[in-house]
Amino acid sequence: MNSILFVCLGNICRSPIAEGVARKLIEEGGHSITVDSAGTGSWHVGETPCQHSVTVARNHSVDISTLRARQVKKADFTAFDLIVALDQSNYRDLKALGCQNLVKLGDYGHNGADVPDPYFFEGFEGFEHVYTMIESCVKELLSR
Ligand code: 4NP
Repeated sequence: MNSILFVCLGNICRSPIAEGVARKLIEEGGHSITVDSAGTGSWHVGETPCQHSVTVARNHSVDISTLRARQVKKADFTAFDLIVALDQSNYRDLKALGCQNLVKLGDYGHNGADVPDPYFFEGFEGFEHVYTMIESCVKELLSR
């Protein structure tokens, strides 16, 4: 596997964390795998990741502050070896767009569980749990 695209809804909370964690692990492991992230929605295109995601990542020595949101496009389905949906609704939306090489991040060690959408969380609490789950799943994904 040479390339992975992580996809959530807005590409500002969850998938940028997944991209940042994967980049760091790939760098540390000396692998050459391209990673990127995108959202199924277009509301936040061009924006930086949400502040709580930037903070929780920084607390784990992962810098995602320079990432910018983009919307997933059909060309991604052939450009990337693997498309990784962060939750079931992202998975369903991507399937509906014709994505075949599709998995859920929670399939990697979390029985297919959704990574909870933190967009409507109150405050910072919850982001640590989201980070921990994403990190655990990405580690498992990269170990296969
Ligand atoms: P994300 O979180 O999918 O993890 O980036 C969201 C960001 C924005 C919205 C929903 C979820 N929104 O409705 O704008």
